[in-house]
Amino acid sequence: MLRTTLMRAVPAQSLVGPAILLSSRRTFASNASRWSSLVAKRTNEQSVSGSEGPHIRDLPPPPTEGDVFKGDWVLFHPVYSKQELKSVQVVHQETKTFGDKVAYAGVKYTRMLFDLVSGYRHHDKIPENMTLEQLRKKGIVMNEKQWLTRILFLESIAGVPGMVAATCRHLRSLRLMKRDSGWIHTLLEEAENERMHLLTFMTIRDPPMWFRAMILGAQGVYYNLFFFSYLFSPKICHRFVGYLEEEAVKTYTQCINELEAGRLPAWSDAPAPEIAKDYWRLPADAKLIDVMYAVRSDETTHRFVNHSLANLNLKTDVNPFALREPNMHVKGQKIAFEREEAKDYVQESARILEKGRARPQ
Ligand SMILES: [Fe+2]
Ligand SMILES: [Fe+2]
Repeated sequence: MLRTTLMRAVPAQSLVGPAILLSSRRTFASNASRWSSLVAKRTNEQSVSGSEGPHIRDLPPPPTEGDVFKGDWVLFHPVYSKQELKSVQVVHQETKTFGDKVAYAGVKYTRMLFDLVSGYRHHDKIPENMTLEQLRKKGIVMNEKQWLTRILFLESIAGVPGMVAATCRHLRSLRLMKRDSGWIHTLLEEAENERMHLLTFMTIRDPPMWFRAMILGAQGVYYNLFFFSYLFSPKICHRFVGYLEEEAVKTYTQCINELEAGRLPAWSDAPAPEIAKDYWRLPADAKLIDVMYAVRSDETTHRFVNHSLANLNLKTDVNPFALREPNMHVKGQKIAFEREEAKDYVQESARILEKGRARPQ
């Protein structure tokens, strides 16, 4: 299902046409022209209007007096169909290079820390002859409070890399006086998306002072570490985030399984937080489980996007997801685009744009 904040707001006739609506999860400016190469354009090359993201002119007119704009999010984010939400699989990117191995080891170490902080233990098999109370006592399954501690800590950290990477790309563009080729906004979208996860789960539990202090410390260390790492090797950093998101998909998959198996009874019929209903366009009677599915799909997008970006030449290639992204049936089962696939995807975007331009406006 193709629904986005922007599409909701923009009159249908201002978009390029059904062909793009059916094949894209983003919107395009109607006057975009050829853009079919993975190689970044030079600063003085002919302008390609709308090819690196929607323009202010594509947005609805400013609010008139009396209108109320609410919400803490403005960037593109997907809204999923039921089939998409169920199509997510736990998949893994094989480590092929030395950089991949460094990134994977970094994630394993980070995961160990997460597990320690949140008291999380992964069990492949849950004994069937034990009651829920016994399972919790033995530390085989976590209760709702423990899950929230893990999720809140995870999300407070997960919002950092996208913002750092966007900052670095932004500064690079300024410093070298070169185009960025559509990377910055995808990275900012990821940061906002992760922040919305945090704000959503904050409505279920307001963390105590000690927890907030821990996040403060962790953020200080992690932001700086990631910033300097990104200056040194952005490729390893995107691979690192890809592996981190693999863990996030696993965590939310386990949480969904626990919920559906009735081992988180306080959440089994809990309503979705209001902020989540608005953000993911959930129905009024949506439940917390629907939010879990939506969040897991977001993490799957981050997994796919970051592993794909890590497969590109980060100095010369354009962002293949600047205009559109594959749907969850692809992202949920495929770990990433290889560089050649990214090139094909960019060329397909160009064809769709051309087709849209050919349609009568
Ligand atoms: Fe997240
Ligand atoms: Fe994520």
